[in-house]
Amino acid sequence: MNTPSDAELLAKWRDEPAPLLPLLHEFHERDGFLSEEALRAISEDLRIPIADLFGTVTFYHHFSRDPEGYSRARVCTGPICALLGANELLAGLPNSKAMPCPGRCDEPIPVLDRDRVLCGATAAELSSRPSPLPPAAPDGIEECVFAHIRSPGRATLEGYRATGGYAGLTEALEREPEALLDMIDASGLAGRGGAGFPTGRKWRAVAEAAGEPKTIVCNADEGEPGCFKDRALMDYDPHAVIEGMIAAGFATGATRGFIYLRYEYPDTLRILETALDEARGDGLLGPEAFGPGRPFDLWVRRGAGAYICGEETSLLNSLEGKHPFPRNRPPFPVTHGYEDLPTVVNNVETLASVPHILVHGADWYRELGIGDHSGTKVISLSGDVARPGNYEVPMGFPLLTLIDDWAGGVPGGRKIQAVTMAGLSGGFLAGEDLEVTLDEPDIRSKGSFLGAGGIMVFDDSRDMIEVSHSAMEFFAEESCGKCFPCRIGTQRLTERLHGDGPADVGAWIDEVHDLGDTMMQTSACGLGQAAPLITESLLRYFADRVSNHVAGSA
Ligand SMILES: Cc1cc2nc3c(=O)[nH]c(=O)nc-3n(C[C@H](O)[C@H](O)[C@H](O)COP(=O)(O)O)c2cc1C
Ligand code: SF4
Repeated sequence: MNTPSDAELLAKWRDEPAPLLPLLHEFHERDGFLSEEALRAISEDLRIPIADLFGTVTFYHHFSRDPEGYSRARVCTGPICALLGANELLAGLPNSKAMPCPGRCDEPIPVLDRDRVLCGATAAELSSRPSPLPPAAPDGIEECVFAHIRSPGRATLEGYRATGGYAGLTEALEREPEALLDMIDASGLAGRGGAGFPTGRKWRAVAEAAGEPKTIVCNADEGEPGCFKDRALMDYDPHAVIEGMIAAGFATGATRGFIYLRYEYPDTLRILETALDEARGDGLLGPEAFGPGRPFDLWVRRGAGAYICGEETSLLNSLEGKHPFPRNRPPFPVTHGYEDLPTVVNNVETLASVPHILVHGADWYRELGIGDHSGTKVISLSGDVARPGNYEVPMGFPLLTLIDDWAGGVPGGRKIQAVTMAGLSGGFLAGEDLEVTLDEPDIRSKGSFLGAGGIMVFDDSRDMIEVSHSAMEFFAEESCGKCFPCRIGTQRLTERLHGDGPADVGAWIDEVHDLGDTMMQTSACGLGQAAPLITESLLRYFADRVSNHVAGSA
């Protein structure tokens, strides 16, 4: 195949929606890096000031300005892989570099090699394989998003339809959008990406907002360490996500949408593109998706490695080709989202729940939860547990039953020392607080939150100072730097966990609390507000270990 010229690449993308990221990826892959000439050509063609473009490109981890950049393998050194020898693997792979958790904690250690993900504990074991399917649910447990995910062929349009896919949408399109909004409201479905905002209310706000065209964005950035559920859903059930997005488009009056996919999921990119082609070929997407003259279409846009791009306003800036800082809110995306127009941003799991609600009804979904809790939640469970993986539990399910009965407990006769919540963002739970149920109210009563549902287990041999240090280092590296309490606070907390700071334990604790309070109260987005939960929970559960750490570093 001929290598495309600059002019051909520019002509291919300039009139496409959200063209900057795909154009940068094409140049990056073609040349192996982003040269100054390439950036100047893009800057001129898309009319982005060159200084802004340099700033934006260098913000992302995976765009390289170094001629060997694209070909350097990247090794996960996230919290789970670090326990399993990631640093040795990194040292053993010539010219490789570290990357934050790429969402494969159920099959460590992942290595990103150009456009492939390889997994293996050592260099000799590295191989490319399909991502693991979620383990089977125990008898008597009714699933929602995983109900058909293990059916062979479910990822194809034919297989999806054979297992009931698109049937609910077909019926919904025959009714008024209002009926769909009422159904989603009544189901109690709330965002599964972290914030838990009621989905029906979000959709209604967009439906009622002035301004067109409206947009549906699927947040598939999944950058939180320890979270890998969206990857499983997209790999094995891509049409469920697409059906959920089409339903959101119909309910709100949107005509277009994007799946913003994290860079580290190259196989998922190919799966989504195939599924979108199938849906377009079948008329589910395109100029007449909702009837004559009523278009709806979707595109995938691939991020380039930046945890902050999962924050919805940062994601929107990234899609628009701007520097991906979070925006000040209000206004919120429901009125001022993509291109400042009304926009739904929903997580993959939220959207994948919709087709099941359409088929079985709002009451069915509500009643999947335990007590007052609606629906289910996928938990990505990893670390010191016999069977790591994605488990769909009824909302309100006991954490210890999940770890001990479903996932086989902690191996080697060891005990749970601590678990993380919300990936890393919820800090730790330990001791009696492990007797929690998996729902926001109960977890919040312990000073943490469920968020996107990543839970990492650490047994009693693990050094919680080391774990906390690597967690805070992650937040410090991923802080976008827009506001100084987060930019400086995450650095100072990382240093304290590394051994710098006051030699007196009381003074050390006061300083760490003070930094954490300031960050929680004054940071502009969830990253800076959540990062201190690591140190706060470390102090709550592991005061003796903290004293030893401070004494040892004095
Ligand atoms: C630092 C940060 C990172 C986030 N990362 C993600 C992410 O990777 N995926 C996601 O769906 N939501 C993420 N969120 C939450 C989004 O901002 C937003 O609330 C969510 O996509 C809305 O969808 P939902 O209502 O379906 O949950 C993140 C938030 C913050 C503050
Ligand atoms: S809190 Fe941190 S990540 Fe969020 S805007 Fe401020 S500096 Fe950026």
